[in-house]
Amino acid sequence: MPDLKETLGYNYLHHTKFNRKTIREKERPSISPGEAFKGYGDVKKISLPVSWQKTGAELEELLQKRRSVRQFSNENLSLEDLAFLLWSMQGVTAQAGPYLLRTAPSAGALYPVETYLAVDRVDGVDAGLYHFDVRNFQLECLTDQSVSGLVARGALDQGFVSRAAVTVIWSAVFRRNMVKYGHRGLRYIMLDCGHICQNLLLAAESLDLKACPVAAFYDDELNALLDIDGVEESVIYLASVG
Ligand SMILES: Cc1cc2nc3c(=O)[nH]c(=O)nc-3n(C[C@H](O)[C@H](O)[C@H](O)COP(=O)(O)O)c2cc1C
Repeated sequence: MPDLKETLGYNYLHHTKFNRKTIREKERPSISPGEAFKGYGDVKKISLPVSWQKTGAELEELLQKRRSVRQFSNENLSLEDLAFLLWSMQGVTAQAGPYLLRTAPSAGALYPVETYLAVDRVDGVDAGLYHFDVRNFQLECLTDQSVSGLVARGALDQGFVSRAAVTVIWSAVFRRNMVKYGHRGLRYIMLDCGHICQNLLLAAESLDLKACPVAAFYDDELNALLDIDGVEESVIYLASVG
């Protein structure tokens, strides 16, 4: 089996890293724009109804209302609300043999995504950097000093990130997935994380919280903040909530 560094996934990730020095100079391929929508002209069309069964009403409302919002309330999040958000992302909902199945699906039930939190305003939780322990449904404190300013810097200096009550930082432990899926694994890892993030966004909406996903970041700055090496484990996505 090729090692991680020999996989296409690893090479893709490393060739597409943002870096403070090279971000402006890096050559971008010149690609002509694609059509925004696709349509088939001369085929049979079926208009879809736009009022649905009452049973789906709550979900419908959440989906309708969800927006990426970059302004947050100054209020604290309750610990209960934070716990619900974490459960929505990666809560264990069943066991199948050795697999702890979760609220979000994962290719091969391999769960390569780890969740970290930059906490600034949560009742009963010191500002700091935390890791979410999925099995024990606990937070593990890595630093009890606010890191939100550093996370915002690492997120291409997007200021709103520093004003969130909490910013979720997702990393991938590549080997967990790639041991089975090899070159193709990176696709699945990114899809897994998309599922997790969408669960968070809808859960936040259900609590009347604002949230915004963030994928623009200086990879190795955030990796250094989490003390991960960017090879075995690397940051892949964030979301600010408040
Ligand atoms: C993969 C991905 C990366 C994103 N990265 C950022 C980001 O770095 N900064 C930001 O302000 N918004 C970011 N967004 C939010 C998008 O700008 C937003 O989803 C888009 O404008 C559509 O708006 P809506 O989410 O309100 O429907 C990202 C969204 C996705 C799905």
